[in-house]
Amino acid sequence: MSKLSIRGLSKTFAGGVQAVRKLDLEVESGEFISLLGSSGCGKTTTLQMVAGFVAPTAGAVLLEGQDITNAVPEKRDMGIVFQSYALFPHMTVAQNVGFGLEMRKIKGRELGDRISEALSMVRLSGLEGRYPGELSGGQRQRVAIARVLAIRPRVLLLDEPMSNLDAKLRGEMHVELRALQRRLGITTILVTHDQVEAMTMSDRIAVMAEGGIAELGKPQEIYDRPTSEFAFKFLGQTNVIVGEIASITDGTAVVRVGSTSVHVKIADGQIGREIRLFIRPERLRLCPLEGCRIKGKILTRLFLGGVWFYEVDSDIGKLSITALHTGAAQPPEGEIVGMAWNEGDLQMVSSGAHHG
Ligand SMILES: Nc1ncnc2c1ncn2[C@@H]1O[C@H](COP(=O)(O)OP(=O)(O)OP(=O)(O)O)[C@@H](O)[C@H]1O
Ligand SMILES: [Mg+2]
Repeated sequence: MSKLSIRGLSKTFAGGVQAVRKLDLEVESGEFISLLGSSGCGKTTTLQMVAGFVAPTAGAVLLEGQDITNAVPEKRDMGIVFQSYALFPHMTVAQNVGFGLEMRKIKGRELGDRISEALSMVRLSGLEGRYPGELSGGQRQRVAIARVLAIRPRVLLLDEPMSNLDAKLRGEMHVELRALQRRLGITTILVTHDQVEAMTMSDRIAVMAEGGIAELGKPQEIYDRPTSEFAFKFLGQTNVIVGEIASITDGTAVVRVGSTSVHVKIADGQIGREIRLFIRPERLRLCPLEGCRIKGKILTRLFLGGVWFYEVDSDIGKLSITALHTGAAQPPEGEIVGMAWNEGDLQMVSSGAHHG
């Protein structure tokens, strides 16, 4: 049995906005799931319905098999860090973190211990006596996380809890929060529009679009084998190559693209049909002209630190290519180069959906 079952959950706001449409999701006990999607796709609304702050128009939420769709938030034993994390301005950091504990009748030594523990988890030890107005945005966000962790909820709901942290601190928090979540075994749903955040922290990612789930799976699975063009583009970058099927033999199609052709594994298709193929920039490599699959001219070369970025005008269209910065000599702009890839890295997607 899943810890948390979301079944056919829908929300239409007064005024007719359909924010969430028949969303189904089973979250296993101790699992960390991210709802990843662009602004306005319904992430916060979904989380608020799970938490009990927004009443669904249809559907149900079950916690360990028990229907809690109409339960008040306080009865759900969930900790939620809101997108707008309101701290009590007139209370110190320690009082803010201790508030939920005192509501639960925890006092004395244990109260102090749980506050210190929660603050040390988010690296804010020493700031107990400060007021929210005396903290940076990122510190306030961490107090909000500590406040929720302190009550040790059965389910943790996080709505963009790290959006105000700088890149370095955010990276550290990803690792720490994930380790903490594992150690405590808290079933967690994180809402984010940051795909790196979703990738690094989650057991599974649900990519949301237009109020529903467009793609669901383990991070590497959905990155390597997205089932839609939308997911291919939303999770990282991709080149899109448009061609026409010239022939199909034993599950491999010859696809005519401009003046050349490429091969791709294909489940089904019709000769003469237009086909869209995808390959990620890091799966393309520059190589000597001899023995390459295609060739082209380097239009742009950018140094990005850890990687080089190339834009190449090739036989099959303009391509983005990234190469690790290993110290090896890199071809300059204007050079004619060859390009190659491993079979399987050039893909088609199973669904024809062209969201977004
Ligand atoms: N109280 C409300 N009344 C009417 N429409 C609302 C309300 N809350 C949200 N919406 C609309 O519902 C849709 C989904 O909103 P939601 O806040 O769930 O998006 P989100 O995915 O969390 O976006 P973001 O990444 O910007 O936070 C949006 O079109 C939004 O304008
Ligand atoms: Mg939101």
